[in-house]
Amino acid sequence: MVKKYIYGNPIETNAVVEEIELSQDPIQYLNEITTTDGQILFTYLMADDDIVYGLGEANRGLNKRGYIYESFCTDDPNHTEEKRSLYGAHNFIVISGMISVGIFVDAPSKVTFDIGYTAENMIKIIPSDNNFKVYIIEGKSAYDIVKQFRQMIGRSYMAPRWAFGFQQSRWSYGNEDEVREVVKTYRENNIPLDAVYLDIDYMDSYKDFTVSEERFPNFKEFVEEMRQQGIRLVPIIDAGVKIENGYDVYEEGRQYQFFCKRADGSDFAAGVWPGRTHFPDFLNSNARKWFGSKYKVLLDSGIEGFWNDMNEPAMFFTNEGIAEAVDYLRNFDFNTNEPGKFFELKDQFNGLANRQKDYESFYHNMDGNIVRHDTVHNLYGYHMTRAAGEAFDTLAPDKRILMFSRSSYIGMHRYGGIWTGDNQSWWSHLLLNIKMMPSLNMCGFLYSGADLGGFGSHCTRDLMLRWLAFGIFTPLMRNHSAIGTRRQECYSFGDTDAFKNIISIRYSLIPYLYSEYMKACLNNDMMIKPVSFEYPADNFARSIEDQLMIGESIMIAPIYTQNAPGRYVYLPEDMLLVLFKSSSQRRYQILKKGMHYISAAVDEVPVFIRRNKLLPLCRTSECTDRMDTSMFEIIAYTDESIEYEMYEDDGISKDYDNPNNKVSFAIREIGGNLGAVSSKTIVKLSLF
Ligand code: GLC
Repeated sequence: MVKKYIYGNPIETNAVVEEIELSQDPIQYLNEITTTDGQILFTYLMADDDIVYGLGEANRGLNKRGYIYESFCTDDPNHTEEKRSLYGAHNFIVISGMISVGIFVDAPSKVTFDIGYTAENMIKIIPSDNNFKVYIIEGKSAYDIVKQFRQMIGRSYMAPRWAFGFQQSRWSYGNEDEVREVVKTYRENNIPLDAVYLDIDYMDSYKDFTVSEERFPNFKEFVEEMRQQGIRLVPIIDAGVKIENGYDVYEEGRQYQFFCKRADGSDFAAGVWPGRTHFPDFLNSNARKWFGSKYKVLLDSGIEGFWNDMNEPAMFFTNEGIAEAVDYLRNFDFNTNEPGKFFELKDQFNGLANRQKDYESFYHNMDGNIVRHDTVHNLYGYHMTRAAGEAFDTLAPDKRILMFSRSSYIGMHRYGGIWTGDNQSWWSHLLLNIKMMPSLNMCGFLYSGADLGGFGSHCTRDLMLRWLAFGIFTPLMRNHSAIGTRRQECYSFGDTDAFKNIISIRYSLIPYLYSEYMKACLNNDMMIKPVSFEYPADNFARSIEDQLMIGESIMIAPIYTQNAPGRYVYLPEDMLLVLFKSSSQRRYQILKKGMHYISAAVDEVPVFIRRNKLLPLCRTSECTDRMDTSMFEIIAYTDESIEYEMYEDDGISKDYDNPNNKVSFAIREIGGNLGAVSSKTIVKLSLF
């Protein structure tokens, strides 16, 4: 049951696609307050044991209680605990307790969610202006509310199956030979690999939709050479367009008036990687069509996937910002002894990037409606990705193109996935990744993942291995790191066997993971869930944040502490522990409901199979193109007949509803014994 309320005259975000009737009643569940300066805000009194889920890509725990979050897409690579904004703005929360209710604040500008920060039991939702929509969702449980929400916002983007392979990235592989070397070393060490990323240095002077002739002289041939080895190249596309005479994207953007403008009608400019750039007005439908059509040049070279970056939009500086800082410096009293003045001086320069004042100084032409950027800030990255997604529908109508973005808003989940931006090689960021995945699923971002091993800082071998052991289960499994950090390709830490083994586990799980992902997309469901969503009556399970349900058959409990030989795991029911050392080397143990200490070395991955569930595994392979999905091994934990319906398709076309996409694996009684039945060849049955 969903109720919709409209305040003021909100800008259409297209986040919600389902027709929902406007409620004429006063808002339910929330207490509406108008402050003395006319601002509308809402409060909600939480019960002591209420849990608050949601907010997608946000800092801190799965339960958002106890902190304050600001939905304002922010390029900040230092995700320390006190940060309130990350790259996405996902304004959906679910309060789960005696009363369960979902709240979606559909507002394109900043919204603050104070969830027990100012007052312990109080939620305060503070939109930054009075033009927004609110949806209130009632349901039987938090999970039920999430499913209704997902129905409202429409089917999530579906990635091609190859994007479930392991992917290697680095800022940047600078030329063809460096890429060749990466691929060769992976192949020599028998570590499976499906994609290599091209970060900004593949371009000519960081100009979107160009390829450096010097470093990638025969790009199309090179893309094909890599394809022959089962490798896809995935180039980055940045939001800012370099200001350079003669550069077609710049010239056309100016000619058609497709860049964001200052109040005086001139094209707004800010510094990003290429130096000074203009920002395409993605909120304008013609500009979107134009920018989207530019992806063609790379698609024509055989490219099948992209990542959209710097689209909060990130700005390193503007001339206006520098001028103000310099002016401040000119007027600075060099004889002052006030410490506060030195800090003020420092802030003038430290605050040059992503300045609020700059966001307030340019405008969009939303098909005739001129709006100031800060009032629609959270839609920018969303609409860059929408531009690409809509273009792919015409440029490659029958093919799934990999697309994910850094910045996002709910609604963008229909056009692409996300990666969670510039994390660090910190153990705490592995834990943040674990806690964030179910929240992203709640908001529709199913194809998602973090930079495995961490983007900034120097990664260690054990952190890389533990992070990969979790990354096996995230749809986007990509190792990415920043320029200047210690190399973290899987062959950079000496002996490679452990890396090969861990990634081989991923490859034997791909049919199951892809199936659970596709079913979740097709049914507006979650692939990665909090344990409490599957065991709502289990009070202890309600508090668990570091174990996750992956699809219908398994639970995981990743190890995220340095030097830990294992960890405590709570089993909400009897489960079968499968301790993977590689795709084929495993140990099994049936464990009773309750708390257990599970030992797992850095090269081991514990997986828990639920009672009366089965897990299909295929043989591992060096890449998804060479996967053999005709033969399976089944691990099942049951003493009765059970069935698993696996979704399987060609992984690239869009024939989602074809009945042939369903394969059933069953455990049946055959002549007094339980045996496995399937249209696939079952090479081994491990029954417990
Ligand atoms: C941004 C991205 C990062 C990328 C870098 C250079 O920081 O988040 O992934 O490597 O830009 O393009």
